[in-house]
Amino acid sequence: MTKEQAKKRIDELRKILNDANYRYYVLAQPTISDYEYDRLLEELQKLEKEFPEFDDPNSPTKRVGGEPVKGFKTVKHKYPMLSLEKSYNVDDIKDWIKRIKRLVNEDFSFCVELKYDGVSLSNRYVNGKLVQSLTRGDGIEGDDVTQNARTIRTLPLVLKGNDYPPEVFVRGEAMIAREKFKKINEQQAKEGKTTYMNARNLAAGTLKLLDSKTVAQRGLDFIAYFMLGENLPVDNQYDALKKLEEWGFFVPHDYKKAKDVDEIMDFILDWGVKRFDFPYDTDGIVVKVNEFAIQEKLGYTAKAPRWAMAYKFPAERKLTRLISVDFQVGRTGKVTPVANLEPVELAGTIVKRATLHNEDNIKKLDLHEGDYVYVEKAGEIIPQVVAVEKSKRKPGAKPIEFVKKCPVCDTPLVKIGADYFCVQSSNCLPQIKAKIEHFVSRKAMDIEGLGPETIDLLLEKGLIHDVADLYDLKKEDLIPLERLGEKSAENIIKSIEKSKNQPFEKVLYALGIRHVGETTAKKLARHFKSLDRLMQASKEELEKVGDIGEKIAESIQDFFKDPENMSIINRLKDKGLKFELTEEELPKSNKLQGKKFVISGTFEHFSRDELKKSIEENGGQNVSSVSKNTDYLLAGEKPGPSKIEKAKNLGIPIISEAEYLEMIG
Ligand code: IVH
Repeated sequence: MTKEQAKKRIDELRKILNDANYRYYVLAQPTISDYEYDRLLEELQKLEKEFPEFDDPNSPTKRVGGEPVKGFKTVKHKYPMLSLEKSYNVDDIKDWIKRIKRLVNEDFSFCVELKYDGVSLSNRYVNGKLVQSLTRGDGIEGDDVTQNARTIRTLPLVLKGNDYPPEVFVRGEAMIAREKFKKINEQQAKEGKTTYMNARNLAAGTLKLLDSKTVAQRGLDFIAYFMLGENLPVDNQYDALKKLEEWGFFVPHDYKKAKDVDEIMDFILDWGVKRFDFPYDTDGIVVKVNEFAIQEKLGYTAKAPRWAMAYKFPAERKLTRLISVDFQVGRTGKVTPVANLEPVELAGTIVKRATLHNEDNIKKLDLHEGDYVYVEKAGEIIPQVVAVEKSKRKPGAKPIEFVKKCPVCDTPLVKIGADYFCVQSSNCLPQIKAKIEHFVSRKAMDIEGLGPETIDLLLEKGLIHDVADLYDLKKEDLIPLERLGEKSAENIIKSIEKSKNQPFEKVLYALGIRHVGETTAKKLARHFKSLDRLMQASKEELEKVGDIGEKIAESIQDFFKDPENMSIINRLKDKGLKFELTEEELPKSNKLQGKKFVISGTFEHFSRDELKKSIEENGGQNVSSVSKNTDYLLAGEKPGPSKIEKAKNLGIPIISEAEYLEMIG
């Protein structure tokens, strides 16, 4: 393929993929199948690799993330990101309207919209292309999160149409849909990790991750509500929202024009109820003066525009009685207090239980037996006890004390950080059960047919006591179990046998070390290459692996100090599970250990893929763009001129294929 042909096809593919992405994510009306999408994306990825000179930060291939994020620069906002004045009732809104009517003596109208409870982002587009995404920061300066923002499928990388000004800033909120938030939290809990308070915190944390691939997987959305710049093609907010939609932004259709306070209040009352069916968290309504000319006349105070007002929804709060407190034991032994409440209807569901988080929270609430408590929903999903009605407390009621021993196995609890743990993991039934469920799960050993009920039965009948026992099970053990036929029993045994082929990283994840999720397990496996080496690693060595901090390092070391864990590991080793990288996964030499390579151009002895493989096999790492952290630019025939120039500017050695062969020879 000639360069010209490649460029043509690359442009064509980018257009098709951007459009397919828009139809799928923004319009929710897919026009091509997932298979077709993946196929075209693969073709584009291949072409971009082959012709790196056509690299483009706004290519749809950047949506999947992957290149490490190297911190976040602080950048000054061209237009400061202000906040909004808040109101809580009709009178506040009436007062505001009176105030602004005194300032302008022309007629004007309003645009009313939802107030999205997310993380505000300001996106700069130059000639229709996304060049920078900044967080609000302190309003004057924000953090440059462009690389992560590019993975947001509902944030256009290239604007549609052709009536955008040369420079335009599009503001809105980065959000995580409620359903997605729920799923992510369930997964966190399953892995024994801290759960997030609400979708906004999760969205904020996600945008600051250094691993753009994880950002891409979290599935953030961007909801647009504001455009700023010179020579805008519209003169009012309502049309601006329509225009944003035309440019390819995701703008929920729930905005309206309103002519007076009555119409504003209609909208507010309507949404006070409807918002619970809206897929994203909202915390109020924003009323804006519609006409830009009037907005300009009203101007800004130091903190907020005079032409806009937020109306905050009251958080629904109910009073109910505390019946008792349960202390639940999770997979990692963490004990969580949960309040049992007299059932009460709250924001559309009946609430009977609410988390109390930890001991400090119980103390802060000053919770006593039989107390009347206020419950609210955090981020509109998880019910929480937020306060105690002390005037209703019965005289002599005793304070709620956090248990000192495990409620299941009676072992004294150990406090780590703000939480208590039952460390007797091998004799504490809920922990054993949860550990086995984790071990067999799809992302771990992927053993099919062993659902929670079957695991319960196996434990009850004494057929297993820990995960290693699974590998001693026989078909005959399983058949007599309730509801299990011969065929299912056979399948389970086959699946257990097959799990012995799971790679080391999955086995490591399956062990259920606290704070070691899928990604961390993968990183550890690749870095240390075998369990033996991982076990011998010092804390400092562990912390050298990207994203591993003190907490994870300690948790890993504690895990291997436990003789029970070691005995299980040894038995699993005897059964033939993989505790090291296989021959194919293993680097052939360490000659390039830790060195980062960018390759560019075509080569005599290798295809580009072969060359990348060779770099990895010798312990090196491939990165796709030249930065100050690159060690070598390996240049073949016709390398990308921009890469060469960048390497020269940064003083990065440019080596030839022959020099490379010498390095590994
Ligand atoms: S307009 C000059 N519209 O709420 C400020 N803001 O509490 C213009 N927000 O900083 C902002 N939904 O991050 C606007 N429909 C909406 C909004 C909205 C949420 C955020 C925004 C703002 C914050 C103030």
